Amino acid sequence: MSDTPIPAAVTPNPQAVSVQVKRSAIFIVATLNPDAASYDTVRAWCGDVAALVRSVGKRQPAGGLSCVCGFSANAWDALFGTPRPAELHPFREFGAGERHAIATPGDILLHIRADFMDLCFELATHLMGRISSAVTTVDEVHGFRYFDQRSIVGFVDGTENPTGDEAVTFTVIGEEDPEFAGGSYVLVQKYLHNMNAWNALTVEAQEKVIGRTKLADIELDDAVKPSSSHSSLTTIEANGEEVKILRDNMPFGRPGAGEFGTYFIGYARSPAPIEQMLENMFVGRPPGNYDRLLDYSRAVTGGLFFVPSEPLLESLADRAAPDEAGTDHSSTDTPPSAAPVSDGSLNIGSLKGAPQYE
Ligand code: HEM
Repeated sequence: MSDTPIPAAVTPNPQAVSVQVKRSAIFIVATLNPDAASYDTVRAWCGDVAALVRSVGKRQPAGGLSCVCGFSANAWDALFGTPRPAELHPFREFGAGERHAIATPGDILLHIRADFMDLCFELATHLMGRISSAVTTVDEVHGFRYFDQRSIVGFVDGTENPTGDEAVTFTVIGEEDPEFAGGSYVLVQKYLHNMNAWNALTVEAQEKVIGRTKLADIELDDAVKPSSSHSSLTTIEANGEEVKILRDNMPFGRPGAGEFGTYFIGYARSPAPIEQMLENMFVGRPPGNYDRLLDYSRAVTGGLFFVPSEPLLESLADRAAPDEAGTDHSSTDTPPSAAPVSDGSLNIGSLKGAPQYE
């Protein structure tokens, strides 16, 4: 026997989930056209994504171009069949009426980032050009970085994001789902804000809504920070440890049309912590103690996607169509963009051994 230690299993390279903050982003959500030729086109395209990012990015390396590509639960079943990522499911809705985290159609998500919008635009053009006959774009948002990384509501956004190894720990799937190690889950929501009502608040009142000071971006003291503040309700724990997600929200808007928005994007190694945050925000912790930011913000889209690791994305191009492979996946009886799961609760108790978030 050799004395050479057996190397630990190496996690496949993630897509560019955790990158330095960039100044521009394009978010595209598209539905799959429900026919075999479209499915073939999209599968083949999976093998081209990385090369297109390299080609466009090389033209201006200082721009730091990157792209993350994700698939909804129903798209995964239609395109790739089994095995499927353990926690991939349709977007779960939370709340109702005025405060409703709604699910909207979407099978493929592209999150393109760079310091220069021309790079994002060029890459989006090439990526979408290859699948234009196979998908229907249902939402496209061009986001910009606003002054010193402020959200459109004027507060610095992203301060408490995990960085470095911590970002990897919180976003990259490991041995809990070995076939999908190196992957992540990503949840997106497009929010529109009532800026007239928001701007009518005093700065002190806005600070209580967010839970941080506006100018200096310092967390409010526990003695004055309401338990309904955005930062309180999105701070969650499992087994006594804080669980973080990685966000890269972008402002967007059309001042001429009175549109002011935040494109929320959150990455994690399980959808559960992001869903817990949504429940806290929309339903409240405890119920009724909801996020007052939602009195001034309305979610108009919602989608959950799985982000395969870089090598898995490339190899998906060689997957046989699920039916050809003889896979039994009756869920493809529903078209790729199917109805949301709307139970308003996480059903966490039903997930055997799953952590309890609070
Ligand atoms: C209306 C859209 C939203 C806006 C404008 C917004 C803005 C902000 C701002 C200004 C902060 C404080 C600075 C920071 O740590 O980043 C923050 C924190 C945070 N937000 Fe949001 N956010 C939005 C939606 C969401 C959603 C939908 C989630 C999760 C589902 C979320 C999760 C978080 C988390 C985890 C923190 C850090 C909390 C902490 O550790 O203190 N946000 N957000």
